[in-house]
Amino acid sequence: MSDRRTRYPGPVAEAQIHPHSLVDQGFAEDAALAAVLDRYPAELFDINLYDYDDAGQVSLRTGTRGGLSGEKLLEAIKQGRLWVNLRGVETGWPELWRAAMKDFRAIQATYPGMRAVRNAGQLILSSPKARVPYHFDAAGVVLFHLRGRKRLFVYPGDEGHLPERNMEQVVARQTTEELPYRLAFENDAQVMDLEPGCALTWPLYAPHRVENLDRFCVSLSMDFQTWPSRFRNGALFTNAVLRSLGGRPRFTDRMTNPELAARWAASLALKRAGAMKSRIARFERDFEPRLGVADGAGALDGPVNSSS
Ligand SMILES: [Fe+2]
Repeated sequence: MSDRRTRYPGPVAEAQIHPHSLVDQGFAEDAALAAVLDRYPAELFDINLYDYDDAGQVSLRTGTRGGLSGEKLLEAIKQGRLWVNLRGVETGWPELWRAAMKDFRAIQATYPGMRAVRNAGQLILSSPKARVPYHFDAAGVVLFHLRGRKRLFVYPGDEGHLPERNMEQVVARQTTEELPYRLAFENDAQVMDLEPGCALTWPLYAPHRVENLDRFCVSLSMDFQTWPSRFRNGALFTNAVLRSLGGRPRFTDRMTNPELAARWAASLALKRAGAMKSRIARFERDFEPRLGVADGAGALDGPVNSSS
């Protein structure tokens, strides 16, 4: 067990690169991307702009889809400093999704015992200098890289890098804050450069961050749940409720499978009863993508008519 980079059980013991076929099938070409941007529903866009201080602490601005054509929006991403996320690829781009699921099944087959019961995808188009802050995902992830180059930093999933108290808060949607981050964590990172045609996966919950390497990047981030990950997410939710009531719940990595399953079942009842209402307020939007302005982020001047 000593080579595992995480305290959580699961088939993936450390970050690992696999081949995929999505680039060869033409999904990352300009014409295909412009067309998908044109038709993608505006409510499925997340557009972020991250800034960092000298201690590596992040601040976030968020954008609206705005009225640019797909072609112009693509150009704004290439010129700017934007991170554009198209949620719901399962329905938003079914051809890409079918091909990605085929590749996913081949990757899954290399991990004995791994069985996803639900998959979802987000297509990420990001500017040459975009960076994604330190965070964890409450799911397994396969990151299919399609275009450009990006550097992935993957950190150990121990209490020092991934405190369960913070995980509970994220799983129970009590904060938009990610995990606490310190520059000293960099000594512990597994660093991997992704080229088009590489798919990266890492242990369940492993904290990570991303730096684009001076090129416009396209990736499909596929997250998946297995029964064990569902049980553990449910246990983290239940622990969040117990903690909010003054309890001091045990770490989930010390719980047996029946204990995790019982806490997952409890989490369903607690959610039905309305425990831990999401405290994440709707984001105020700060900008919309525009060509020829700093970072590709144009000011919003009052209520914008998106037909312009
Ligand atoms: Fe992530």
